[in-house]
Amino acid sequence: MKRYSTMVDSYDDKFGSGMYAANGYSLYLSQSTILRCIEEICKRQSVHMPITIADFGTADGRTSLNLLNNAITTIQEMSGAAKPVMIYHEDQATNDFNLLYRVIEATLMIELGLSNVQLYPLPIHGNYNMKRYSTMVDSYDDKFGSGMYAANGYSLYLSQSTILRCIEEICKRQSVHMPITIADFGTADGRTSLNLLNNAITTIQEMSGAAKPVMIYHEDQATNDFNLLYRVIEGTEDEGQDRLKLSSSVFQAAIGRSMYEECLPNNSVDLAFSSIVVHNLSRRPCRIEGGTLSCDGNEKEKALIKEQSAKDWERFVYLRGKELSPGGYLVVLNCGVDKTGKNLHPISGGMPRLGKLLNTMLQDGLITQEEFLDANFDVDIYRTEEDHSRPFTHGGMAKQLGLELVSVRSFINTLQHPTFDIVDKDAAAKAEYAERVVAGIKPWFYHVIYNGLSEKRPHEERKQLTDLYFDRMRAFAYDNHAGGTEIPLVETVVRKRL
Ligand SMILES: C[S@@+](CC[C@H](N)C(=O)[O-])C[C@H]1O[C@@H](n2cnc3c(N)ncnc32)[C@H](O)[C@@H]1O
Repeated sequence: MKRYSTMVDSYDDKFGSGMYAANGYSLYLSQSTILRCIEEICKRQSVHMPITIADFGTADGRTSLNLLNNAITTIQEMSGAAKPVMIYHEDQATNDFNLLYRVIEATLMIELGLSNVQLYPLPIHGNYNMKRYSTMVDSYDDKFGSGMYAANGYSLYLSQSTILRCIEEICKRQSVHMPITIADFGTADGRTSLNLLNNAITTIQEMSGAAKPVMIYHEDQATNDFNLLYRVIEGTEDEGQDRLKLSSSVFQAAIGRSMYEECLPNNSVDLAFSSIVVHNLSRRPCRIEGGTLSCDGNEKEKALIKEQSAKDWERFVYLRGKELSPGGYLVVLNCGVDKTGKNLHPISGGMPRLGKLLNTMLQDGLITQEEFLDANFDVDIYRTEEDHSRPFTHGGMAKQLGLELVSVRSFINTLQHPTFDIVDKDAAAKAEYAERVVAGIKPWFYHVIYNGLSEKRPHEERKQLTDLYFDRMRAFAYDNHAGGTEIPLVETVVRKRL
């Protein structure tokens, strides 16, 4: 069997697209049978137990979409709107999962059936609400490694021993047959966490035996490149890179949903972790008039961003706390400031340089004032240890859920590169240095510039202008080539009481 997908890329014709047209909705000839099964299941289950449904060989999910919505309606009519429902869309790893998520997002509003809870995205704010974009740069590749690798220098591995210790604690108290569930929030292409997950699987199998069931969830926004994630998991994307060690006892699924929404049923996750993700805000509280992120803002703008940031961190802790099983752990590694006040420094002049470089494009008449104002990076990368502790020291939400703060610590990931230490660089070293600086910023900043540009411009023009921005950044780094990249991080470890 060759490794191919049977899906036709964006096949569309006047009789409907893809699998619709091919099979004339054959599935619906079994709809009443399936719904009868659902009714039987509802009759015998307690209200709080999730109902799990799996569609095998789902393709783009178009055919089963209405059936699934009808199944959700049946369940909610019989067992109430609070009944948790978990839906798995299964297909080959070569399936077009990005298309599947576009189909799911369009109409399947309650994919995980948690309709009793409010969805988080907040009211549209002026004309500059958060756009639905992915922060991933498609196939961004350079000679220093691709995507998030290059950008964050595997920061996650500075928390690896913490995470593996949590796994050991979980193994110690669990019976051999109960699955261990691990969720990676904001996984992106899954490259960063792949080896960590393989090490977690090894630890579990050493402690609990090879038959111990393990369920791994890769979570990110619905606009994430899930096709790339599956190539990484399969080991087909990068030469010489291991695949994820899936087996007859180790399973995996992806979740395309915002981390500010309910992503998994209550009390179902043993270990949730996240690296370099939760600095992303759920919404834009205001536009930063003087640049691209909060360090460029005035006092009022800074205060609004801090307020949003505190709400979002609390919300994230609350949601993950609900999902944790008693005895489970949450480990979050965020960009932040260390005890001495050091913050992210990826280029000479620090973060304010990013807005200043964009300002040169405004001054040169290449972009409009509106575009400059729209290009904001909606993050808070300035949270302190105290900010991270706040949900546990103020108010009762964490306490009510039985969450306890195990530890908070800040430290710095000083990235290594041969050119960082050369004081008198020749032209070749300067060029290599500049390339490395751009590789460290582009994966998480490309979408800020691209999305800031007017949607009236054709895609090609937006792309060219965004590339020009990074060309200017490269030229700046060539001329200002002192120092390397430092990433101050705050690690927060939370446990749910047994
Ligand atoms: C800098 S990457 C980190 C990737 C990876 N965890 C790592 O350590 O390399 C940030 C990721 O956060 C994701 N992200 C941003 N906002 C999100 C949200 N609201 N819900 C889920 N993921 C989000 C982005 O899509 C992106 O994949």
